[in-house]
Amino acid sequence: MTHGRRPPGRTLHPMCGIVGYVGGQSALDVVLAGLRRLEYRGYDSAGVAVLADGGLAAAKKAGKLANLEKELAGRPLPSGATGIGHTRWATHGGPTDANAHPHLDNPGRVAVVHNGIIENFAALRAELAERGHALESETDTEVVAHLLSEVFSSCGDLAESMRQVCRRLEGAFTLVAVHADEPDVVVGARRNSPLVVGVGDGENFLASDVAAFIAHTREAIELGQDQVVELRRDRVTVTGFDGTPADDAVRAYHVDWDASAAEKGGYDYFMLKEIAEQPRAVADTLLGRIDAAGSLTLDEVRIPASVLREVDKVVIVACGTAYHAGMIAKYAIEHWTRIPCETELASEFRYRDPILDQRTLVIAISQSGETMDTLMALRHAREQGANVLAICNTNGSTIPRESDAVLYTHAGPEVAVASTKAFLTQLVACYLVALYLGQVRGTKWGDEVGSVVRELSEIAGEVEEVLETMEPVRELARSLADKNTVLFLGRHVGYPVALEGALKLKELAYMHAEGFAAGELKHGPIALIEDDLPVVVVVPSPRGRSVLHDKIVSNIQEIRARGARTIVIAERGDEAVRPYADHLIEVPPTPVLLQPLVATVPLQVFACELATARGNEVDQPRNLAKSVTVE
Ligand code: M6R
Repeated sequence: MTHGRRPPGRTLHPMCGIVGYVGGQSALDVVLAGLRRLEYRGYDSAGVAVLADGGLAAAKKAGKLANLEKELAGRPLPSGATGIGHTRWATHGGPTDANAHPHLDNPGRVAVVHNGIIENFAALRAELAERGHALESETDTEVVAHLLSEVFSSCGDLAESMRQVCRRLEGAFTLVAVHADEPDVVVGARRNSPLVVGVGDGENFLASDVAAFIAHTREAIELGQDQVVELRRDRVTVTGFDGTPADDAVRAYHVDWDASAAEKGGYDYFMLKEIAEQPRAVADTLLGRIDAAGSLTLDEVRIPASVLREVDKVVIVACGTAYHAGMIAKYAIEHWTRIPCETELASEFRYRDPILDQRTLVIAISQSGETMDTLMALRHAREQGANVLAICNTNGSTIPRESDAVLYTHAGPEVAVASTKAFLTQLVACYLVALYLGQVRGTKWGDEVGSVVRELSEIAGEVEEVLETMEPVRELARSLADKNTVLFLGRHVGYPVALEGALKLKELAYMHAEGFAAGELKHGPIALIEDDLPVVVVVPSPRGRSVLHDKIVSNIQEIRARGARTIVIAERGDEAVRPYADHLIEVPPTPVLLQPLVATVPLQVFACELATARGNEVDQPRNLAKSVTVE
């Protein structure tokens, strides 16, 4: 058991993985297996607590879950059927044993795990100190353990204690707690951070993500905002923070993927598996959304056609890879609908007082559906009267819940921190929305929509083709393992693809990687070119928009003349570019707007292989976490 002193300084726990279990199995085994599935959410430290023999036993350890498991192998906890666990991504406060969760009260009867930030923790802490509580640290979570302990001693009911405590908390949080005096109960609470109930047979689960319990049950309940849940073996009771029963207001659903989808399936890394799953993910995201006549049937987009016809501006908000998908969507939306479209980093959006009204359609793109910057941007947009459509991969997550409508991508669970299949499916969803807007507004007629849709429905096969030809890309990546810098260039939709290639390389290979619009080269970045510097160039199709193609071929010549080693991604059969490519990566012909779906894949493979060659952790790159639930 550990419950050591923490170093001074505020310690916050903003995006972490949480698991709770009550049932007939070993709680420790179930919780640890769940944490393994949630480690993508943070891997700075991990901890568990189980109720057994009338008491509470806990263990926690800095570093990955494997460190905790090693600790437990040396000092096993007693066996119990109720338990909680946590895997952490630290912001403030180092990833130490002491800062790991769970946090306990002084007598060690209550254990709490937490995801989020309790903003008024300093005031609560001072108040507790005045009442004689000896807090050992300045972590915000520990305050909750002490408050729960105090309230429980007067009411003797953990769920009621949680409700009373939550009413006093400010900020965003998910809390899960157990008390040794209620050995068959796990209590959870949620405000702004995710928490899902897994409903089993004689056992129930709580987790930040269904992946944690999918091996046991596919029946889930999505907890709403400001709700408390009490979990017993045979009962799940949900109330609001004020005690009002909420059972009618909760949303139960069946998870449409199974445990194997959350496993590596024979691949060394989740990222490799997820790259390989892209053809299926793309096909699944298209499935059922196109009718026999080739028209789009996006029933999920519940914003009435009359409203969509009045839209005079589209604004896309997203972060990271999802932002790159949004940048590409801008080209498609403006081209197919003629509605002005801006794509903006969600983290910048609301701070510049954007001009929005009822005629603005805001599209929020997010794999996790929990990214705080994107959530805040959509809330701001709705406050200004805009309609918000979410494009999201995670059923029941906060962003779709708070949007006017949602178009789900069907990528299945994406576990690797570096986004791959989610990106391709976000692109597909963006194309569908763009075409749908064109269809509703009459800027794109049925037969035109039909022809793009036909091309889209062939894309899955083309992605498959790209995947089959990746060995030279892997070889090339290995040969560049000792380089410090790689640049990426593109034009038109190739520009966001270049940015995405650079982002993948930064986060996985920890290399200096930058993406530029090729036309901007001569305005500064060309000064970076030196002998043998690898420069990846995304070349558009020579067909159709050949001006674009010719211009980038000139850019390639310019950098090559200055010593760059050119790595060119071009359409199969593009002979014009061949003489200037030191390495040529060919992709199947596609319409210009759809090219990102095939051109991004080699860049994912390239980054993954370079990371491996440099000895980096592919699925869990340093300093990162999958869901970024802080601003
Ligand atoms: O869950 P989201 O799509 O909202 O996440 C947005 C970004 O944090 C995410 O795409 C991030 O950039 C990826 N790690 C990139 O691979």
